[in-house]
Amino acid sequence: MNAPAPLLEARGLRKSFGSLVVTDSVDLVLEEGARHALIGPNGAGKTTLVNLLAGSLAPDAGALRLDGHDVTRFDAARRARAGVARTFQINQLFERLPVFDNVALAVAERNAAARSMWRALGSRPRIVRRTNELLDAFGLADVAGEPLGQLPYGRQRLVEIAIAIAIEPRVLLLDEPAAGVPSGETQVILDVVDGLDARIAVLIIEHDMDVVFRFAREITVLVDGRVYARGTPAQIAAHDGVNEVYLGARSPVLSDG
Ligand SMILES: Nc1ncnc2c1ncn2[C@@H]1O[C@H](COP(=O)(O)OP(=O)(O)OP(=O)(O)O)[C@@H](O)[C@H]1O
Ligand SMILES: [Mg+2]
Repeated sequence: MNAPAPLLEARGLRKSFGSLVVTDSVDLVLEEGARHALIGPNGAGKTTLVNLLAGSLAPDAGALRLDGHDVTRFDAARRARAGVARTFQINQLFERLPVFDNVALAVAERNAAARSMWRALGSRPRIVRRTNELLDAFGLADVAGEPLGQLPYGRQRLVEIAIAIAIEPRVLLLDEPAAGVPSGETQVILDVVDGLDARIAVLIIEHDMDVVFRFAREITVLVDGRVYARGTPAQIAAHDGVNEVYLGARSPVLSDG
């Protein structure tokens, strides 16, 4: 019998912007429960690859399968419904709405109740219960009633992650979840990432190598849009070329962490 298909499987992904090839023949496999880090220099194509996986960008070539099903032509909304979630950009959230409503909308979407939710929110105990659970889990209960836009940036990013989790994804794509967050607030974000459900496949882009090497069980190094190296943290740390092209070159960032 054949082995079961990987949860998410990208083959030969390719994307150009004009004459600039930003994603070049990239293969990537995420199994259930994966803890995979994507690292590489600025401009290596990490965010573009996440955009291709999430469906925010369509590839010029290559294929993406989820559970063995071809989802290459699915747009981001359809991929999210199929189980591939990414953190939303802050400006896609509703800054003037309370934190509670932002999270409840995602929960309701998951429950396919979004259309009727505005009026029915109070009478939908399941949505309210799940929203409160998430707010508790993310330490956001005390700001549930505050407009999202008035929260400190670090807590806004927590809301983003809570929303991504609310749709109960099987694959979660995190593009620098702690970027721009004051250093005093990054730990709570990293704790949340560390505490994610063990079954979710997580792909994280992160420049802080302390975080990467603590979190990841597999690391892909992207350079100029290509997979330059891939392996366990120990293999990547011992990889001469990676140290030269990336880790060495980024020592100021390394000493940041
Ligand atoms: N929409 C676009 N149009 C044109 N060029 C783009 C576009 N998006 C990204 N690029 C270019 O593609 C390359 C890869 O960008 P990408 O944002 O994927 O890199 P990255 O690895 O995420 O970098 P960083 O570490 O700085 O976040 C860069 O040269 C960038 O300027
Ligand atoms: Mg990026």
